[in-house]
Amino acid sequence: MAPRVFLHLTEISGLPRLGPGEPVIYAAVEKGEGAREFLAARLVDALAGVAPEWSEASSWGGLEVVAGPLGQPFLQLGGRPGPSISFSTAGDLLWAAVAALGQVGVDAAREEDFSASYPFSRAFGPKEWDWARRHCQGQTASAAALLWAAKEAAVKARGVGFHTLDPLDLEVVLLAPAGEGRHLMVRAPEPVTAWARPLADGWLALAVV
Ligand SMILES: CC(C)(COP(=O)(O)OP(=O)(O)OC[C@H]1O[C@@H](n2cnc3c(N)ncnc32)[C@H](O)[C@@H]1OP(=O)(O)O)[C@@H](O)C(=O)NCCC(=O)NCCS
Repeated sequence: MAPRVFLHLTEISGLPRLGPGEPVIYAAVEKGEGAREFLAARLVDALAGVAPEWSEASSWGGLEVVAGPLGQPFLQLGGRPGPSISFSTAGDLLWAAVAALGQVGVDAAREEDFSASYPFSRAFGPKEWDWARRHCQGQTASAAALLWAAKEAAVKARGVGFHTLDPLDLEVVLLAPAGEGRHLMVRAPEPVTAWARPLADGWLALAVV
């Protein structure tokens, strides 16, 4: 995997071991007009350097992001299908991820969205809630952001969002530390490989099917 590169405000990072999608690359930029296309183009360039099947993709032509019927984003390059892409907005940032193979999902969840009045038991099962709270040193909002990010990344990777699945239909399982994050498995209900890392204000998760 290539070392990190820093382009303007964008940090592009690679995940060398996210199961079926590898390599998976993600980054964030300040949200705003044209941010999606800018970020998508940067990620396609970065992917070209590490995934031979996409090495020429940047030269295929104009980049476009189109939405599927359930809102899933699809990347087109000169009218040809590009690699799988996923987006998430959190605060001032737009996050995106691309995967060489399979379908990727990304989600950034902020602790401030999980105040004490949040209906935790409607989104999280007792088993996952237990380990996540222990993992986050008892900090409820952090545990909720971790589980929520993992669940949303998984439903985005599956392309269904929460249209056909309820958050309680999914269970997040902690596997092992991996780099600056942790490997996870999301039962959605079939297993989805995922990874999450802490952010300054919450958690970022990526998933691939
Ligand atoms: C997928 C979903 C959960 C993400 O919403 P969110 O957390 O509010 O927003 P995020 O910024 O993290 O992600 C939004 C991006 O997800 C992507 N997305 C939307 N639907 C998607 C789908 N079915 N599959 C994959 N990605 C999807 C889009 O790129 C979207 O960006 P856009 O709005 O600019 O097009 C949401 O769109 C969804 O499924 N809604 C369905 C029903 C619902 O809202 N249920 C209530 C929650 S229980």
